[in-house]
Amino acid sequence: MQTRADAAVVASRAPVSHNIGFIHIREKYLMSDDIRFDLPQSAIPEQWYNVQADLPRPLPPVLHPGTHQPVGPDDLAPLFPMGLIMQEVSRDRWIEIPEEIREIYKLWRPTPLMRARRLERALDTPAHIYYKYEGVSPSGSHKLNTATAQTYYNKQEGVSGLTTETGAGQWGTALAQACSFFDMECIVYMVRISYEQKPYRRAIMQSFGASVTASPSDTTDAGNAILSQDPDSSGSLGIAISEAVEVAAKSGGKYKYALGSVLNHVLMHQTVIGQEALQQMEIAGEYPDVVVGPTGGGSNFAGIALPFLHQNLAHGKRTRLLGVEPAACPSLTRGVYAYDFGDAVGMTPLVKMYTLGHGFVPPPLHAGGLRYHGMASIICELWDQNLLDMVAIPQMETFSAAITFAKAEGIVAAPEAAHGIAGAIREALAAKEAGQERVILFNLCGHGHFDMSAYDAYLAGELSNYEYPQAEIDRAMEALPQIG
Ligand SMILES: Cc1ncc(COP(=O)(O)O)c(C=O)c1O
Repeated sequence: MQTRADAAVVASRAPVSHNIGFIHIREKYLMSDDIRFDLPQSAIPEQWYNVQADLPRPLPPVLHPGTHQPVGPDDLAPLFPMGLIMQEVSRDRWIEIPEEIREIYKLWRPTPLMRARRLERALDTPAHIYYKYEGVSPSGSHKLNTATAQTYYNKQEGVSGLTTETGAGQWGTALAQACSFFDMECIVYMVRISYEQKPYRRAIMQSFGASVTASPSDTTDAGNAILSQDPDSSGSLGIAISEAVEVAAKSGGKYKYALGSVLNHVLMHQTVIGQEALQQMEIAGEYPDVVVGPTGGGSNFAGIALPFLHQNLAHGKRTRLLGVEPAACPSLTRGVYAYDFGDAVGMTPLVKMYTLGHGFVPPPLHAGGLRYHGMASIICELWDQNLLDMVAIPQMETFSAAITFAKAEGIVAAPEAAHGIAGAIREALAAKEAGQERVILFNLCGHGHFDMSAYDAYLAGELSNYEYPQAEIDRAMEALPQIG
């Protein structure tokens, strides 16, 4: 058993880092075999980090779908409150988090940083593996960080309710909870296949007062258009977005629309994750060589990675930032960098992004939250500028990694989060191969308690790998909007 005096010796060998000020906690309380690094609630960040201030070149403009001219704040006003539109275009590096939001964050923040020592032993790796666990939020994932913020700004501007889409159900659950915190209506279009496969996700959203409709539905023009071509459509995130956007756009300001990822302000809200992790790594006395996160629309990866990118750009650190996407939906590793719609029907503004084409038909992959044809503009720009690394991992490897992790650490991860685990395990095995003691940090962005049908299918041997066919990508590219 290690004593406090030993711990102080360990502490004195630890690298002295950038002035965050938690060294005294390490010196006073930490044992060298500790596995959990907590922060007091006073350490919940007071500002979000806006990477737009540090981008080597500005983001490409968002274009109006009709005129192809850059959109201004007024064009976005039918869908979003001005408070969020201003964040979307802001170039300020730090944006204050209102006290009312921090009060709600106290329900689950700061989230724990864990050292996965049992996983290290199971892999027999010299790597030190840490994970930030966002699954402790009441909704079970990182999504509540932005749902709370988005709902707050809408409430401030007198909006009655929010419309949204949800795939796996994590985002819909988070928004339903946030709307109930602020006493607002919540209208959720849930991708039909998830609606049928995950009745308890629907029930939890309804418990918080949300109305939940399977998409495509006959309640919108967009839904009817899809159903007239394919009455049995199992839906997609792109279609559900079209429906939710239409309801908000036609509501005369009563409802606005909320998106769970992709947009700049959403990524920014998630930076509380990485800011806390910076402080916690300091308590642990280590600094990550690599930071890993799964990428669907890009928000949880951005949340953990961007504060470390800031350290790279502003303070000379050299952490590798590694996003993990599914091999079945490889928007960054196999898509093209082009202007495309954010939804399936072509109602949203045009965003320059790595895309598989808005007509992309998602393959039957169990990580529903990673089945999006595009990617956040910020992640695309950073990838295009070689400031990030990206890897595509097949489904079977992600489930195998999730089971290894569950057996070692006791947490059953969401299938989306399992991509981060698989990426971290690859890194840990590479460290073993190289005989190096690398420090790996990954974002465990959600638990999988509502995703057990996916594990059931995996354990029954019913899942397989799926590589998205190049011919399908080529076909979807033909439908990209032509920008003059
Ligand atoms: C648990 C979980 N992780 C990750 C994602 C992917 O989204 P993002 O890349 O925005 O974090 C989702 C999306 O639904 C999710 O539910």
